Amino acid sequence: MKLVFLGPPGAGKGTMASRLSRHMNIPHISTGDIIRAAIRNETELGNQVKDIVEGGGLVPDDLTIELVEERLKFDDTREGYILDGFPRTIVQAEALENMEKIDHVINFELSDEEIIRRLSGRRVHKPTGRTYHVMFNPPKVEGKDDVTGEDLIIRPDDREEAVAKRLSIYREQTEPLIQYYQKKSLLEHLDTRPRPEEVFSNLLSMINSRSPLEDLGS
Ligand code: AP5
Ligand code: MG
Repeated sequence: MKLVFLGPPGAGKGTMASRLSRHMNIPHISTGDIIRAAIRNETELGNQVKDIVEGGGLVPDDLTIELVEERLKFDDTREGYILDGFPRTIVQAEALENMEKIDHVINFELSDEEIIRRLSGRRVHKPTGRTYHVMFNPPKVEGKDDVTGEDLIIRPDDREEAVAKRLSIYREQTEPLIQYYQKKSLLEHLDTRPRPEEVFSNLLSMINSRSPLEDLGS
């Protein structure tokens, strides 16, 4: 099954995509994770976009489209995938439409107030992108990754000014995709206010109601 997770920063797209990816055994493709890895590894792309990303801006469409096009050529995408954070402009959505036939777009809904609470408490294990929240999903040991014991960091774009910019870009450039996919009858809304377990269970029911059971794994 080919899924797109749409929604504002901090709504829980990455958290749910990582769980669903394990559950359905399909890859979680996060453009944000790929771009952050490029920045960390100081690749040409990484160096080119570091300041934009850390300041909360969007990477140019041609770069993200190329990146996704290359990733979708990998063998592991044959049974489907979860696209998290792509597309986020109309240009990207049109490019995706020329590449692939998407089965389902899930729109993650959350208020700005709650988004700010989630982003300000988010902590990340930089090498893997494993994500925690100081209150809602704390690590076993404060400030340390559960698996490796290494330090957790605050994402540079979770600073207050960068969050404000991300939210305003989301409204201007990404929110129009809700209507875009609604018109194509691909969109379903997911209320992400409840606890992660409940959001995940609602997400599964939603996908289940649209798709053959064998797609869902066990
Ligand atoms: P990206 O990494 O995609 O960031 P984003 O869309 O802003 O979304 P986030 O990762 O911040 O939030 P999320 O929805 O994944 O929430 P999470 O699960 O972590 O993109 C980053 C940057 O890369 C962009 O700004 C841009 O520069 C660039 N980029 C990426 N894709 C691009 C593209 N297509 N085009 C151009 N540029 C692109 O959850 C947030 C917190 O809440 C966590 O702490 C989590 O533990 C907690 N939480 C999750 N669910 C719950 C719950 N149900 N209850 C309580 N807490 C919860
Ligand atoms: Mg994310």
